[in-house]
Amino acid sequence: MQSRRIPIAFESSPRCASSGFEGDGETGEQISNYEHASRRAFLASCTGSLIASLATSPLAATDRGVPIRRYQSSILADEQGRAIRASTLLAHTNYLFHYPFVATPCLLLDLGRDIGGVGKARSIVAFSAICSHKLAYPAKEVSFIRFQRDASTHSEGERIHCCADHSVYDPTAGAKVVKGPAPAPLAAVVLEYDAKRDELRAVGIQGVEQFEPFFDKYAFKLSMEYGDGARKPVSGATRVQPLTQYCRNIAQC
Ligand code: FES
Repeated sequence: MQSRRIPIAFESSPRCASSGFEGDGETGEQISNYEHASRRAFLASCTGSLIASLATSPLAATDRGVPIRRYQSSILADEQGRAIRASTLLAHTNYLFHYPFVATPCLLLDLGRDIGGVGKARSIVAFSAICSHKLAYPAKEVSFIRFQRDASTHSEGERIHCCADHSVYDPTAGAKVVKGPAPAPLAAVVLEYDAKRDELRAVGIQGVEQFEPFFDKYAFKLSMEYGDGARKPVSGATRVQPLTQYCRNIAQC
């Protein structure tokens, strides 16, 4: 993962969470709460089909013209499978969920101000957490990529920073690359916001996807963790949790 040695510190989390969500690699009865919603969502979706535009794309303003690939619609939910309230997200906090596949991690961020995202303040965005450089991603044991509120030696504040080789992305501008070797922005997760319910739903991906190279590179590791289910589409709900709960160690750089 790392091409050169750099000083990196780690923020440790108290536990490595596991639940009945598909994104945690669990199957069977533990995901039964989501089965019905999954089927409905699957039938209602046009998985993998390309669409030219989506009116609810939170990134339409910054990435106008970039095609959106629509995947199955998935509600962002808590560990009990209940839709999270968008207004309860803590600003400048790393939240992790899996979309559009059970093994592909994404970051959910509330930047605390209007950046053309979704939510009451249009402050919420989400991006694939697979770095476009060498595909570092948040695994349960460690994450080299995360949002940082404050500036550090290698990055300005309010950036998504991959400590593996110091690629820096701007989440307020469609996660475009602002520093480092990454060749492309992080792929954006298209979110729909239900203002009446204050709920969020992931419906597609916009930008350069890294899913196929990710599945190829980490095939063995993913098979150990997910069996043959890593490529399974996320179904009706996907669990959102703080990155500090999901990862044992988060690189600081
Ligand atoms: S994997 Fe090299 S900067 Fe992220």
